[in-house]
Amino acid sequence: MTARIIGTGAYVPERIVTNKDLMAFLDTDDAWIRERTGICERRISTEEGTSVLAIRAAERAIADAGIDPKEIEIVIVATSSADRSFPSAASDVQGAIGAENAVAFDITAACSGFIYGLHILQGFIQSGIYRTGLVIGAETLSKVLDWSDRSSCILFGDGAGAAVIRADEEGVIRTLVGTDGKKADVLWCQARSLRNCLTGGKPELGFMVMDGKEVFKFAVKKVPEIVNQILEETGTAREDVQHYVLHQANTRILESAARRIGIPMEKIPVNIDRYGNTSAASIPILLDEMSRDGRLKRGDKVILSGFGAGLTWGAALLTW
Ligand code: COA
Repeated sequence: MTARIIGTGAYVPERIVTNKDLMAFLDTDDAWIRERTGICERRISTEEGTSVLAIRAAERAIADAGIDPKEIEIVIVATSSADRSFPSAASDVQGAIGAENAVAFDITAACSGFIYGLHILQGFIQSGIYRTGLVIGAETLSKVLDWSDRSSCILFGDGAGAAVIRADEEGVIRTLVGTDGKKADVLWCQARSLRNCLTGGKPELGFMVMDGKEVFKFAVKKVPEIVNQILEETGTAREDVQHYVLHQANTRILESAARRIGIPMEKIPVNIDRYGNTSAASIPILLDEMSRDGRLKRGDKVILSGFGAGLTWGAALLTW
């Protein structure tokens, strides 16, 4: 048995923030952002937290799959921007959707989070521990961005995407994940003060810190490397894969990946123009769009690949 995606859902906040909106308070330029990143606009949450976005996406995925929430045995939320340190966003989701038979927990693997979640659930399904689960990528990174830092804040947006996953004969063929903790300082965000109040610390929340060039260099090398590795290890010809659903961080990274994998850009779907980089949510939001507009057909071979803070990376080959 393997893990098969049987339903998808996505939810993004209503508020659209365009590049021109950013120019009102930031020394930036619409043309620069479009050319250097491919982003035109992003969704930014005003009142909704990460858990609310995750719940809405989960409800839509469950409706799409046509299952009873009580059938769900495990809820995994991949997020780097949970509203609270504890309980987990997954606990909020489990309670809100009535998945009363499910164990629920969060994972933090930044933009690789959805693939890490799929990898974990695949392990549980292969070992026969669970049959039905929910993997959600949900982020409100707008709350950890330094909106005066033009080199990072222009890149990200808020949103959530979810997938209902069930044991089946066909589905995930192979997952591949990795971490390089020595590069943790390339992209990071302080969650708490390192000192406690008793010994003279004061509570502080940090902003995201990013070495954009280092992340770029890492991504253009790592994404083709792991995609080629998964093709090789499974004996799959690149032409036999219909869709390469890659983490939406920058269209220049996607174009470079297309060249290095040796596939046309038509095989790499793009929605970063409308949502920016939604981190762990980017891949499931894209899968949901493609499933609903008919681009994804049952039996299609699909590769997913993500990368992010950690540094982390992941790829999956699956039959839709
Ligand atoms: N608007 C206008 N100009 C900007 C700008 C902005 N938002 N941000 C940077 N610039 C300027 C810089 O100050 C620099 O000016 P200078 O030449 O006068 O010093 C110039 O543009 C070039 O900056 P540079 O940093 O070399 O741009 P870049 O081509 O490397 O693009 C990123 C910057 C961040 C878009 C790019 O490095 C990137 O996408 N990195 C990956 C980040 C990422 O994906 N993170 C998430 C991982 S999951």
